[in-house]
Amino acid sequence: MSQVKHVAVLVGSLRKESINKKIALALAKLAPSSIKLEIVEIGDLPLYSEDIDVTPAPAQYTAFRNKIKAADAVLFVTPEYNRSVPAALKNALDVGSRPYGQSAWSGKPGAVVSASPGAIGGFGANHHLRQSLVFLNIPCMQQPEAYISNAGTIFEESGALTERTKGFLQSFIDAYADWVMLQTRTPK
Ligand SMILES: Cc1cc2nc3c(=O)[nH]c(=O)nc-3n(C[C@H](O)[C@H](O)[C@H](O)COP(=O)(O)O)c2cc1C
Repeated sequence: MSQVKHVAVLVGSLRKESINKKIALALAKLAPSSIKLEIVEIGDLPLYSEDIDVTPAPAQYTAFRNKIKAADAVLFVTPEYNRSVPAALKNALDVGSRPYGQSAWSGKPGAVVSASPGAIGGFGANHHLRQSLVFLNIPCMQQPEAYISNAGTIFEESGALTERTKGFLQSFIDAYADWVMLQTRTPK
């Protein structure tokens, strides 16, 4: 039987009541047994500067890089800020990409979920993020795409997901698990 693959989940919002964080936690519950999702915190990473990224690197940088390196795959769940990626998430991408030649990201199968209370579901952030993922050599699942619009309405008062969104997220995470298994298989 295949070994369980560990997925580092990066949430683009630092907000306590973040809709995106709730979606990430819901995905962790819906994930099939072949993958295990764990949120890696990005809020404590100092803003990237080559001036501070010297030996010894800031402890937060080292801990973050080690967590990404230890993961088999990476999943991004993010809001859109001004039609782009929130600064905290871009900062995390930059931190993980250095030191030069030792990127923590390279080759980890990825996927992007964007969610917004607005009508276009964070499409701009989703695709700006994909631009960086190409350069970082994160092979990104193409389909299904996940732009969760009207995200203020996807949770019932009880906190449970509406059945429609739950069904969509289930099909998304099942497809992502297949993508991770495909990308991490050992060639014969
Ligand atoms: C600085 C800032 C910029 C934003 N820009 C956008 C935007 O471009 N498009 C959009 O749909 N929502 C935008 N929003 C609204 C967010 O989608 C909304 O606050 C969302 O709930 C944030 O996600 P979260 O609940 O996971 O924190 C913006 C919010 C902030 C704070």
